[in-house]
Amino acid sequence: MTSSWDGTRYTSPEIFAQESSRIFERCWMCVARAETVQAPGSFHRAEIGTESVLLVRDRYGTLRGLLNLCRHRGARLCTDRRGTLGKTIRCMYHGWSYGLDGNFVSAPYAHDLPKDPAENRNLCPVRTTEWLGYIWLNLSSSSPPLTEQMEPQLDRRFGRADLLTQYTMDKLTTALTKTYEVRANWKLILENFCECYHCPTLHPELSAVLPSFRTGYGTISGPVRQGARFAGHMAGFSMSGRAAAPALPDLRTENERTFHSVNLWPNAVLILLPDHVVCLRLEPVAADRTQVTADWLFHPDATAAPDFDPCDAVKLLDLTNQQDFQASERCQLGARSKHFTPVYPPREHVIAYFHHWVDQALAAQDES
Ligand code: FES
Ligand SMILES: [Fe+2]
Repeated sequence: MTSSWDGTRYTSPEIFAQESSRIFERCWMCVARAETVQAPGSFHRAEIGTESVLLVRDRYGTLRGLLNLCRHRGARLCTDRRGTLGKTIRCMYHGWSYGLDGNFVSAPYAHDLPKDPAENRNLCPVRTTEWLGYIWLNLSSSSPPLTEQMEPQLDRRFGRADLLTQYTMDKLTTALTKTYEVRANWKLILENFCECYHCPTLHPELSAVLPSFRTGYGTISGPVRQGARFAGHMAGFSMSGRAAAPALPDLRTENERTFHSVNLWPNAVLILLPDHVVCLRLEPVAADRTQVTADWLFHPDATAAPDFDPCDAVKLLDLTNQQDFQASERCQLGARSKHFTPVYPPREHVIAYFHHWVDQALAAQDES
């Protein structure tokens, strides 16, 4: 099967701008672990398309999504990625101040300001919701709720809704976070997560843990909805084969030696393992650049154990991530060629579904 997509899909700033306004600014995007914005006054800055958004926990514990845009003359209010605010958000330029709920509080010489309605001075609100222990935001006020975006993807992948709940992601804690600056288009990275044809060549270490990956089918592109079983000598998903922690408390027996994964388009990928979960979230930066953040999530009882050490487990998926991202960067280089005409064998059929999803998202926004 060949694709109608040419290399410009991955290299063109114009196409990236269309994707920003019609996909990233219209879909629910996974942007931060909720525990990083837990304390009153804490904030996290997310970058989506052309917008910068502050996720702020106000002093009553309510999570707020606010455009990071001063209502005076548009200065960016916070440039740090995360931190703690005082009682207000104060613009460094002329000193306009906003409460943590986004409401305008004061400005120097406020009596001179035009008599606009008060809401014109408040920071612009952004829809947020919490799911799986993550904060998801949506820059569109008219997009359907998060469940409408995610349920079809979960159903298609697992064929049953309860699998994800066994991993109790909202109760887990972050043992380690790694950020990867990938010189590749966001779609090349997700296409890589749509197939396991590359696993025998690119991931010898991963394929040693998951023998079914040596077939090039894996669990994503193959018919194996029940997940990939660990090799007989592996007790856990790690370089040594030892488990880093006991199995998660609500996990069914059939998943105690099993690898599952699911892509939650457009910007999250979950790897579900017996004793931990890894969530990768993509922040598309430019047509040829994507920042990927991976969180290794464990049960709090496991991380509290005096001998807890996630390094052995982290090493295996970190190595796999690096292999995947290097391959995506190679494809990014190839996408510049006029002779870039990709071919997708049947075991890469999920890529066709992904392309269809992207095309539909772009077209749907054109109609509105
Ligand atoms: S731009 Fe923020 S106070 Fe002037
Ligand atoms: Fe891979």
